[in-house]
Amino acid sequence: MKYSKGLLLILSTISVSLADVVDPTLVTLPEGQIRGQALQSPNDNVYYAFQDIPYAAPPVGELRFQPPIASAKWDGVLNTTKNEKICYQSGQYYVDPDLIQTEDCLYLNVYTPLIPGNPSQTPLPVLLWIHGGGYQNGAGAIQIYKPGLFIDHNIVIVTINYREGALGFLTTEDRVIPGNLGLKDQHFAMQWVKRNINLFGGDPEKITISGESAGGASVGLQIISKRNKGLFRGAILQSGTGINYKAHQRYARFYAFELGRNLDSNFTSDKSDDLLELLQNVPATDINDNTVTPEIGKEAGLIEGEGSIWLPVIEDASLEGALLTGPFQEDVRTGNINQVPILIGFNSEEELTFMLFDPTIPERYAKYLDSDSYNLIRDKFNMTKENKLTAGTMLKQIYTDGAFEDNLGAVVKFFSDETFTTPIIRHAKLQSNYTDVFLYQFSYKGKMGGLKDIEIAGVQGVGHAEDIAYLWDARIINDGTPDDPADVITRHRLLTLWSNFVKYLNPTPEKDSLLGNVTWEKVTPNSLKYLNINNTLEVQTNPKEYLRWERIIDIYAIPPLFYY
Ligand SMILES: *[C@@H]1O[C@H](CO)[C@@H](O)[C@H](O)[C@H]1NC(C)=O
Ligand SMILES: *[C@@H]1O[C@H](CO)[C@@H](O)[C@H](O)[C@H]1NC(C)=O
Ligand SMILES: *[C@@H]1O[C@H](CO)[C@@H](O)[C@H](O)[C@H]1NC(C)=O
Ligand SMILES: *[C@@H]1O[C@H](CO)[C@@H](O)[C@H](O)[C@H]1NC(C)=O
Ligand SMILES: *[C@@H]1O[C@H](CO)[C@@H](O)[C@H](O)[C@H]1NC(C)=O
Ligand SMILES: *[C@@H]1O[C@H](CO)[C@@H](O)[C@H](O)[C@H]1NC(C)=O
Repeated sequence: MKYSKGLLLILSTISVSLADVVDPTLVTLPEGQIRGQALQSPNDNVYYAFQDIPYAAPPVGELRFQPPIASAKWDGVLNTTKNEKICYQSGQYYVDPDLIQTEDCLYLNVYTPLIPGNPSQTPLPVLLWIHGGGYQNGAGAIQIYKPGLFIDHNIVIVTINYREGALGFLTTEDRVIPGNLGLKDQHFAMQWVKRNINLFGGDPEKITISGESAGGASVGLQIISKRNKGLFRGAILQSGTGINYKAHQRYARFYAFELGRNLDSNFTSDKSDDLLELLQNVPATDINDNTVTPEIGKEAGLIEGEGSIWLPVIEDASLEGALLTGPFQEDVRTGNINQVPILIGFNSEEELTFMLFDPTIPERYAKYLDSDSYNLIRDKFNMTKENKLTAGTMLKQIYTDGAFEDNLGAVVKFFSDETFTTPIIRHAKLQSNYTDVFLYQFSYKGKMGGLKDIEIAGVQGVGHAEDIAYLWDARIINDGTPDDPADVITRHRLLTLWSNFVKYLNPTPEKDSLLGNVTWEKVTPNSLKYLNINNTLEVQTNPKEYLRWERIIDIYAIPPLFYY
């Protein structure tokens, strides 16, 4: 048969339009189809966004306070063009009117620069972000974490929700209400990403998990959990680690029953099943808006009754589905972890941000620390009473020759180190015996970070959470001023280092003028190298007061240590 020129032309036109028929906004998941949308990045690159994809069944009714299970299949096409659902928050944290707090909140978002379903493209590395917020606030929503800056570095982004507060962390510490439900949601989402990300152009062999604050601590705990074997090949921990005691509740069962009594003054049972029945039959808002406080624990004689209540716990290893059984510090020390390269670090004066929320902290804690140097040492070190006093006195001398009350800046520095930098550097050092570890200190003080006017007794620096304003355009603290040119350079440096790590597991695989041609040297157990990210990028050694802490703690602490 002989085709006319005209017919050939028509045929070739048809084949082109067939290729065009691959709808980049339509993805077919095993559970059903989803329709996303095309968006534009800050650099005007088109990317495809799929928002509020269900990654688990709604944890409602009989599934409330239970580990996540697979989502049911759906018919037709699910619209995934908007972020609306976020888990219950502590207070009115996010005021975006489009974000609705709901128990049905196990959703994630995928953003991809590739055309989903086009098999001729090379799949891209994936960054999976676990938000922070003290295990009681936050969400993956685009209104908070904007993926566009990372999209311009050509990687696939996933952000997730997980249950928070009492709904995510209340536990009877047995099989009735298992512990760490919020972390099990994260784990479930990580499995979803491993299974499905290829459908969006993501490479399931190149997944990096990342997070900040409680998200960084979550990443640290997921690194330690054996159940995550093979789910990721790298991890980024910003201002958090799983070996920080802050993310730990020791009296979880006590507080769980306290909530039961709180909701029903007639509730006197001490049986887990009775508590579950009570808690599954009240509105979720009653559970979320509970008034259980650390003071109740203090009155009941529990030590260290402060901070948040609804937090991760150490699970009994005999319980089915246990995610975290400890001893965490010991696990990192002995390499009993998922041995993947990490990028880990902290901001130069983390504690400053907390002063913004509570300006009375320095004076209150100065009194407390001055009243007895024993108070400088937490129970996480398992020290004897006498040794607590000795070690506490030595630690105090790092920060002040006299009283904290006469040197409020010393209180800020002490807590920055005690709560953040010491455990983070410890983690970096211990893990460096087994994997690549890139340690940073973020010292660049720009307007973009959002923490403008905080300075206490001459102590300045970059406070907690300022880094995420640069990477995600997130306005967690205040609205930062976005357009200072030096801030924009720092933003692009951070994004380049972070996305290099996601692509190559090395933040500086080659010399880059933007990065001042620096080579970010790895930590080794004998040399605490770190990148000081300031107006310039410089490799330095021995950050903060870490070595002085270690010299004191390691003499008196009694292993096995869970935390540091
Ligand atoms: C999905 O969104 C489109 C466009 O906004 C709308 O026409 C359609 O009705 C929606 N479908 C569903 C099932 O909500
Ligand atoms: C507690 O029990 C008493 C007596 O049965 C009843 O009158 C009261 O309403 C109950 N209170 C609550 C909060 O259920
Ligand atoms: C140290 O404390 C942990 C809990 O943080 C505990 O499980 C462990 O048994 C303690 N070790 C010693 C030697 O007391
Ligand atoms: C490094 O790991 C090896 C083997 O696991 C161990 O014997 C050694 O003590 C570790 N070194 C440090 C500094 O922790
Ligand atoms: C960061 O750079 C500023 C400006 O040069 C300087 O004042 C500050 O001391 C530096 N901080 C650190 C920790 O490098
Ligand atoms: C980085 O190295 C290149 C090539 O040697 C050089 O041209 C450039 O000026 C350097 N950039 C910086 C910021 O040092």
